Amino acid sequence: MSTTLQHLAELGAEYRDPIAIIDWSSADEARPWLPPEVLSLAGLPAQAAMDQGMLNRFSRVEFARLCAAGLWLEGLLISRVMKDGCLTTLPAEARVMLQEVREEAGHSLMFVEMIDRAGLGGVPLLGDIRLLSWVAHRLHPKSAEFWAMVYIGESVTDTFALKALRADADEICPLAREVLQFHHKDEARLIAAARTLLKSRIGAMSAARRWMFRATLKFLLRRFLAATLYPTEASLRAMGIPDPAGAARAAARSPERRAFAEDCALSAMRFIERTVMLPPELVEE
Ligand SMILES: [Fe+2]
Ligand SMILES: [Fe+2]
Repeated sequence: MSTTLQHLAELGAEYRDPIAIIDWSSADEARPWLPPEVLSLAGLPAQAAMDQGMLNRFSRVEFARLCAAGLWLEGLLISRVMKDGCLTTLPAEARVMLQEVREEAGHSLMFVEMIDRAGLGGVPLLGDIRLLSWVAHRLHPKSAEFWAMVYIGESVTDTFALKALRADADEICPLAREVLQFHHKDEARLIAAARTLLKSRIGAMSAARRWMFRATLKFLLRRFLAATLYPTEASLRAMGIPDPAGAARAAARSPERRAFAEDCALSAMRFIERTVMLPPELVEE
């Protein structure tokens, strides 16, 4: 059994409940939830024209979308990992899977709280996730594709959060910062687990399957970035932006946003590219 999984299971033994730990009273209405440079209209006239109040509301839409992406991904992960019950007989793998379920459920409760506080309950925040959800429901946790989707989803959203955390400490709302930091800290271990499980499955693949695997992932990645890193027209309308349809189109066509989205996916795709190129005997775990 993987010593990495054993180690990760030991590190995750103690649970921290975000609902109990986070200082919910630290919310500051006057500050944005994300810095302007990570918002999807950065560099475009629609964002440049916003006053501070509008910019703060827009940052909440973008933060809430990140939370909605987390809710969706973590819900898929929980449902797929536990679909047949916890059947693995490998104790380290069982511990890691159950820790995932416990922690991702806690994160999801934290995300629901932030969406509610943003005043965006009931507003569609994500783009078209139908195909990705359909695919995810058909992948088995024994497959490389399943863990590749988990790894990409977690890595992209975590890289986004890290970019936001580069802002000066007093630039964004302390509550939003604490939520991002809490999730980033937990997620480091969960991402490491997904990488380990992914590597073990890639190691067992034939060369032909690896080629198909890469092509499929590239296709799914584009869909994932489009669904999670761009604002929906409904969310822009809910925040009161003038011409929400025009602003959503402007974000979708923005070269600056495309470069930002590709950068968020870079480290995950580099890891997968490197791993699929290795001969099976060199893929560890
Ligand atoms: Fe999470
Ligand atoms: Fe996660």
